[in-house]
Amino acid sequence: VRRHFRADAICTLVLVVVLFTMLYSQLGHTSLREEKGGGQDAMVTTLPPLTQPAFDFKRYLRNKDNRKFDLLINQPKKCKRNPGGPFLLIIVRKTWGREGPVNGAQVQRVFLLGVPKNKTALPAWESLVHQESQMYRDILLWDFLDTFFNLTLKEIHFLSWAREFCFSTKFIFKGDADVFVNVENIVNFLERRDPSDDLFVGDIIYNAHPIRTRKSKYYIPETMYGLSMYPAYAGGGGFLLSSSTMKKLSQACGEVELFPIDDVFLGMCLQRINLKPTLHEGFKTFGITKPSAAPNLQTFDPCFYKDLMVVHSLKGAEIWLMWNLLHNPRLSCTQKKHVKKAFRWKIKTKEPTKDYAT
Ligand SMILES: *[C@@H]1O[C@H](CO)[C@@H](O)[C@H](O)[C@H]1NC(C)=O
Ligand SMILES: *[C@@H]1O[C@H](CO)[C@@H](O)[C@H](O)[C@H]1NC(C)=O
Repeated sequence: VRRHFRADAICTLVLVVVLFTMLYSQLGHTSLREEKGGGQDAMVTTLPPLTQPAFDFKRYLRNKDNRKFDLLINQPKKCKRNPGGPFLLIIVRKTWGREGPVNGAQVQRVFLLGVPKNKTALPAWESLVHQESQMYRDILLWDFLDTFFNLTLKEIHFLSWAREFCFSTKFIFKGDADVFVNVENIVNFLERRDPSDDLFVGDIIYNAHPIRTRKSKYYIPETMYGLSMYPAYAGGGGFLLSSSTMKKLSQACGEVELFPIDDVFLGMCLQRINLKPTLHEGFKTFGITKPSAAPNLQTFDPCFYKDLMVVHSLKGAEIWLMWNLLHNPRLSCTQKKHVKKAFRWKIKTKEPTKDYAT
């Protein structure tokens, strides 16, 4: 009996080791994201690259009337494939951005591009983009430089594109490439809404002050913005809007002076149409605070993500992995709301609200 017991114990031990090794190798590459997380300034959601030379405000102000650029690659039929248009148009690709019906709602996607800064370093860029556009039919390319401070141009051009070529969509989700989006939750949330009502939902930032320290990456001189507070705006990780709001914003953003921080710029457009954006707990555009002892386990619990709509700062591989974990037919989280405690060692953030359907 004792020998049997020992054999069982060894067998169990081996299995446990194998299991942990597998788990670890699956999650190992996610630890990279630590370097980026935490401590972000709540003022701005997207960081410009650190190597960015000092921003030339004078030049920006001089050229700010130059705000109309040609559309080099269009997808004019994107929203005409289904009678009545898509239910939801989303603006990122791969995994969660797949097209087709989600819970019976038609979802289409587009991907927004400008021209890369150094084309000589990317000799095949042009043909690659055209190939990709032909393969996926989801690329919109405009003739301006694809830089951090030109994201505002992207916003303006996308909205006017949507008004012209996708007026039939009921809702739009716009998000960064590094967000994980639970499309099912978004569709559920939208199902009972009327696209002809105003709707603008996201991780809303209130009462943010412009940063006046010259050294800061987000420095905005008073010549550019004289007020002491920004209007409420959505963290750029992702937000939802209705078709009606898209049309109004498209008009308004065409009239608001260019501002180099695109999130804030959109807040200014919202203010112009007198629309108060709605804060929603399901939009975590700063990512989820990771417990220091187990950074990977907790955030990679797919049940945790099941309750959210958007989570910022995931790498492509992580988005892919999460999408697959969530779509595993054997995943079941429904009844065990608190069973996941074993993995949630110390969560600094608020518990996510469980039901977004209401
Ligand atoms: C563009 O990239 C090429 C090749 O990497 C490099 O030699 C060149 O200095 C770059 N030009 C600019 C303006 O950055
Ligand atoms: C934005 O794009 C325009 C057109 O390509 C370019 O002239 C300008 O320098 C860019 N602005 C910034 C801030 O990168």
